[in-house]
Amino acid sequence: MTEATAKTKTKTFSERADELEHAAIAALDPIPQPSAIYVSAERDPTQPMPPPPAKPGQYFLMGHDKRLSKMPDKPTLVDFFKQRFFPATHVLQSARLAKLAGHPEKIVLACLLHDIAIMGFIRCDHGFYAAEMIAPYVDEEISWAIRAHQVLRFFPDPANGYEYPQQYIRLFGEGYRPEPYIYRLYEKMKTHKWYMTARLITVNDIYSFDPNVKPVLEDFTDIIGGNFRQPEEGLGWDDTPASHIWRTINWPTRFL
Ligand SMILES: [Fe+2]
Ligand SMILES: [Fe+2]
Repeated sequence: MTEATAKTKTKTFSERADELEHAAIAALDPIPQPSAIYVSAERDPTQPMPPPPAKPGQYFLMGHDKRLSKMPDKPTLVDFFKQRFFPATHVLQSARLAKLAGHPEKIVLACLLHDIAIMGFIRCDHGFYAAEMIAPYVDEEISWAIRAHQVLRFFPDPANGYEYPQQYIRLFGEGYRPEPYIYRLYEKMKTHKWYMTARLITVNDIYSFDPNVKPVLEDFTDIIGGNFRQPEEGLGWDDTPASHIWRTINWPTRFL
């Protein structure tokens, strides 16, 4: 073996090792990192987060999480329904009831959107989050009513066809009373000019739907098109006060 050949072979071996290492690093998927609130109470939130399991050369996820379906570059409300909120049975049934009752389109849309925060984002104060998510794209009356439905659900209004939900007794117990802020808000909301809009969400917000009826989102295409101002840039990318929530639902495990 000549000196030149040996050099070439050594170099080639070293290069191959580098290539393999790079390939191995490249094969390591970026790590999706759940937010503290996902795991709060499952772990002690006053203690440091456990060290990340990253291997050398492995990064944290800063975009799409492979475990979720990839959303279009300019996602619409319908895309979020199909890729993050599916199957949406409860709100579809609720909107169907409102439509059958002959309510205006804004009421039907409010019913269709009233629980999207629970379906795709967070449960606690879900009416407030849902209202924030849609505020830039709907009449203020609709977002106000969706915020209020969370409060009005706790207060019967038999004159308008709404009783305290039996389901709440099953879920929270006979003696459950909402937190004081719910009572404070109720005092303001019950005399508000849009009270009945919110009340109609609660009237159509029932749990005992007909299991044989399966409404689909396409039943509401026209109502969405006529009442939800879909941003050209796509939800999350139009720089409104709601964009950050839509981005978070799209990429829930982005590191920052
Ligand atoms: Fe709700
Ligand atoms: Fe609901």
